[in-house]
Amino acid sequence: MTEKPTRNLALDLVRTTEAAALAAGRWMGRGKKEEGDQAAVDAMRLVLNSIDINGVIIIGEGEKDEAPMLFNGEHLGSGDGPEMDIAVDPVEGTRLLAQGRPNSVATIALAERGSMFDPGPIVYMSKIAVGEYGRGKIDLDVPIEENIRMLARAKGGDVDDLTVIILERDRHSDLIQRVRETGARIRLITDGDVAGAIMTARPETGIDMLVGVGGTPEGVLAACAMKCMGGEIQGRLYPRNEEEAKHALDQGYELERVLTMEDLVSGDDIFFSITGITDGELVEGVKYYPSGARTHSLVMRSKTRTVREIIANHNWEALMEVSEIQYDRIG
Ligand code: FBP
Repeated sequence: MTEKPTRNLALDLVRTTEAAALAAGRWMGRGKKEEGDQAAVDAMRLVLNSIDINGVIIIGEGEKDEAPMLFNGEHLGSGDGPEMDIAVDPVEGTRLLAQGRPNSVATIALAERGSMFDPGPIVYMSKIAVGEYGRGKIDLDVPIEENIRMLARAKGGDVDDLTVIILERDRHSDLIQRVRETGARIRLITDGDVAGAIMTARPETGIDMLVGVGGTPEGVLAACAMKCMGGEIQGRLYPRNEEEAKHALDQGYELERVLTMEDLVSGDDIFFSITGITDGELVEGVKYYPSGARTHSLVMRSKTRTVREIIANHNWEALMEVSEIQYDRIG
């Protein structure tokens, strides 16, 4: 069955992540997490409100660090157009940005209303993610060693041909040891597991698997991207303490269940955009010139699985005539 091509909202969304990256990139290495985040939030909100959707934020990043956020439940978009759920992370890797480290990105996803998982009070999630060749070959319910062996078989190589990306956290010391003992290579990152998950679906990054506990909002965002790219992510809620577990159980969350990609975001019309703030293996960071700047984004849609790379050159003189955001200098 064929259908007429419909509007690809990802091509609108890229303007929101470009705006966030342009505004936030000015704060690279300045040691000020909040300011960089605030600049991105303001720019993203402004551009998002010009897009013809009737959107509501399901995943608004920031609660964990009390950062300036786009609030959960906030209505965004022009109000005309399709009813959508929105997941945002205007700066994914606020510390990376503040310290001028690689892989800080601006991200956003859209999906039909009611399709995104609402993590409620649960801040963290155990995750496993792989690219296309590993889809259907992973299971969060089996030991990591087994997942690594299954992935190596799917890749058609040995375990030592695999690279596993893991957030460098004390909670992962046992996991890191176990992965080391399988013979797989490890890439430790200080932050940024949305980019880490997406890397598994971009063979040129050399990353095969992401594993470990990271933010739940980041898990939903990564699921949106993985659906567009043909990879897979699974998650399990990871309460920090008894109180958080009880709170979640009282609200009807199932703590033991493996959340599939379909649980994290259902449906097949998902749009995703990611723009580099600092340089990384997924996307380049913002490059500023006296007259403007250049951004690098990945823009995708699940229905067609088209992944576009968009390099944009932004001109300050022209942009400043139409924009309220002070992109041409630090805000
Ligand atoms: P921020 O963008 O909010 O700074 O999050 C960065 C991040 O590293 C995420 O990529 C990851 O999911 C989460 O934090 C891990 O949380 P924690 O730093 O508390 O271990």
